[in-house]
Amino acid sequence: MRLHHKSIVVTGAGGGMGLAVVKLLLDKGANVIATDLNTQMLNDFESEQLAVFEGDMLDETFVEKVFAEGNAKFGSISGLVNAAGIAQKAKPIEDVSLAEWTRILNVNTTLLFLTCKEAAKYMKKQGYGSIINVASISAVRPRPGLQAYITSKGGAESLTRALAIELADHHIRVNTIHPGPCDTNMLEQFAADGANIDEVKNTIFKQSVPLGNLLKPADIAYSIAFLLSDEAHMITGATLNVDGGRGI
Ligand SMILES: NC(=O)c1ccc[n+]([C@@H]2O[C@H](COP(=O)([O-])OP(=O)(O)OC[C@H]3O[C@@H](n4cnc5c(N)ncnc54)[C@H](O)[C@@H]3O)[C@@H](O)[C@H]2O)c1
Repeated sequence: MRLHHKSIVVTGAGGGMGLAVVKLLLDKGANVIATDLNTQMLNDFESEQLAVFEGDMLDETFVEKVFAEGNAKFGSISGLVNAAGIAQKAKPIEDVSLAEWTRILNVNTTLLFLTCKEAAKYMKKQGYGSIINVASISAVRPRPGLQAYITSKGGAESLTRALAIELADHHIRVNTIHPGPCDTNMLEQFAADGANIDEVKNTIFKQSVPLGNLLKPADIAYSIAFLLSDEAHMITGATLNVDGGRGI
């Protein structure tokens, strides 16, 4: 599985999974266009293969800039990995404000619309491309109190399938990853107010995984690298559960 000569945009690149994706893609020889609200975690990388953009991927002008400058630097946009996202604190629907609902849907679904739209422009001209949207196994195995998050991740998967059929003629593949509970900063943000975070993480989440462990960011990154690679050239519109069996 080699990714030489590929140039891949990674959103959420400063987060747990995004950072693992950036590391693995660089290691596999890809050029990486990494972007996040906060890119401090990317400061340690010194690589000719890496271009870093700090900003809000809900800002359409900024999205256009990331793709244009990435394309100018590396000569193509062969892949897009959407690992940006936000969690929801578990709570009853009556306590969810419209502002919170809208914010979660914007980041977890509308951000994907903006980046996929921009990617499609470049990939159609090239006649190839691979897009991976990170959703969540909770979209099909919900937990109570996460209605906005779960809806946003269902939207991410539906958008993926819609684009897989729309872009297939252009040899652009679009796939979803459904991670299970993964050991990143995000995990504890799902805990309800007053909950014991260690208990939520190491008991409730861990016990929900049949294989018996929380996922590591690298587990997600390996699956993403495979879907980006030419070895996956006949896979599109698929959802890959990388969840230790949580979706069974
Ligand atoms: N951690 C889990 O257990 C888990 C499980 C299933 C799915 N997921 C999904 O996996 C993806 C990665 O999650 P993670 O665990 O690495 O979380 P994380 O919080 O470590 O990383 C998410 C990153 O997205 C960035 N981001 C948020 N809004 C942004 C915006 N508007 N513009 C640019 N960047 C923005 C954040 O700054 C952060 O660095 C998310 O979509 C998440 O919903 C996570």
